[in-house]
Amino acid sequence: MKTRLATAKDSEEVAAIIKRHAQDDYMGYATFNDTYIKDKMKKNNFFFVAEDSDKIVGCIRASIVDLDLAEIRTLCVDEGYRKKGLATELLQEALKLLREKKMRKVAARSKADNTEVIRLFEKAGFEKEGYFREHYRKGIDIIQMGKFL
Ligand SMILES: CC(C)(COP(=O)(O)OP(=O)(O)OC[C@H]1O[C@@H](n2cnc3c(N)ncnc32)[C@H](O)[C@@H]1OP(=O)(O)O)[C@@H](O)C(=O)NCCC(=O)NCCS
Repeated sequence: MKTRLATAKDSEEVAAIIKRHAQDDYMGYATFNDTYIKDKMKKNNFFFVAEDSDKIVGCIRASIVDLDLAEIRTLCVDEGYRKKGLATELLQEALKLLREKKMRKVAARSKADNTEVIRLFEKAGFEKEGYFREHYRKGIDIIQMGKFL
């Protein structure tokens, strides 16, 4: 298994893995297809992927959203590949790139009850910063975490 920065050639597979993990009670209106991913890649978005024999089994997106503020989005690992440290590795790769890009801070959001991903971010040095009640969707609370680089 290896992790690497995705390129435009990966956009179809990247869209597919994000769609596989899209939680329909949480995700927004974006249509995840290769055009959407390619477009994002051109605009300050970096996708890292985890691969097993050329098959993409994990993904993370790092977005530069302001002068020196970045966000982590769409962190996901296929079920059979979990608990092997892949998400942590993807997150570390994304943080490394964001440090190189001289980002000051990185934020990440998740559902407030997603204890697994919250723990993962905390282990990487993120702290809980904000709690948003029924923010994107009725009945679903969101937590925002942050880390200074
Ligand atoms: C959340 C998610 C990305 C985690 O992916 P993952 O690759 O399993 O994460 P990691 O392996 O890095 O860490 C998960 C756990 O495995 C443990 N682990 C890592 N390597 C391990 C190994 N070799 N052996 C045993 N356990 C290991 C980690 O310590 C961690 O344990 P903890 O939860 O008790 O702290 C994945 O479960 C997922 O895709 N979930 C659905 C999508 C989702 O909720 N995404 C977040 C949206 S913001």
